[in-house]
Amino acid sequence: MELYDAMRTTPATRAYTDEPVDDAVLHRMLDHARFAPNGGNRQGWHVIILKDPEIRRRVRELYQVGWREYTAHVREGLVPFAPRDNGRWTGPAVDLAEARNTPAPNEFGDNLEHVPALLLIVAELGRLACVDNGLDRQSIIGGGSIYPFCHNLLLAARNEGLGGVLTSVLAREETTVRELLNIPEGHGLAGLLALGHPQKVITKLRRAQVEEFTTTDRFDGTPFTP
Ligand SMILES: Cc1cc2nc3c(=O)[nH]c(=O)nc-3n(C[C@H](O)[C@H](O)[C@H](O)COP(=O)(O)O)c2cc1C
Repeated sequence: MELYDAMRTTPATRAYTDEPVDDAVLHRMLDHARFAPNGGNRQGWHVIILKDPEIRRRVRELYQVGWREYTAHVREGLVPFAPRDNGRWTGPAVDLAEARNTPAPNEFGDNLEHVPALLLIVAELGRLACVDNGLDRQSIIGGGSIYPFCHNLLLAARNEGLGGVLTSVLAREETTVRELLNIPEGHGLAGLLALGHPQKVITKLRRAQVEEFTTTDRFDGTPFTP
């Protein structure tokens, strides 16, 4: 695919046909995605391809729990687990115990175990130069050493005629996932990537215009136009 086309037409695809994803295709995608930029070129990612039906079933259950916590925020009109206005996390904004006991139907999550390909992306935290650690706000830079790799996988999927979505809510159940999959201490869940042959190819994405988020010289400078 032409690069700009791929960038503009790679949506979150959550509905797939039953057609399996070939391991050779997955391997090829990983082989291209590994050239992603990352801090200090330490390449702190580890990918676990989930094939075992029992593991997939457990992961689906845990995803559903995370999804319940997520949607409890959305129901209240909140950005789930976002830091407060001052940029700091001060604890849950909803009753998480109640959220976990409140069903939140979600076609994608409720059928997660049947997704053709599931790739768990694990980060080795000691390899992430989180240079904004210690600032009095939420740290964001560490993820930047992992997510370009994840997005490369989505672009590669698009190039292969596949669709996919990077998901994060499973991280709510990280402790249990680590036990389930023998993930050593010092590692964190960066995401769960779902992939398959799309039921429908969506190519029209809704995003803000450049002028809405780009300014000149100051945050409140004039909108950037050529
Ligand atoms: C860091 C990150 C976390 C995400 N977590 C989830 C998730 O847990 N579940 C899910 O269904 N989609 C998840 N998404 C997908 C987003 O919802 C999607 O990228 C966004 O809504 C834009 O969708 P579009 O490209 O189809 O317009 C996540 C995306 C990113 C980048």
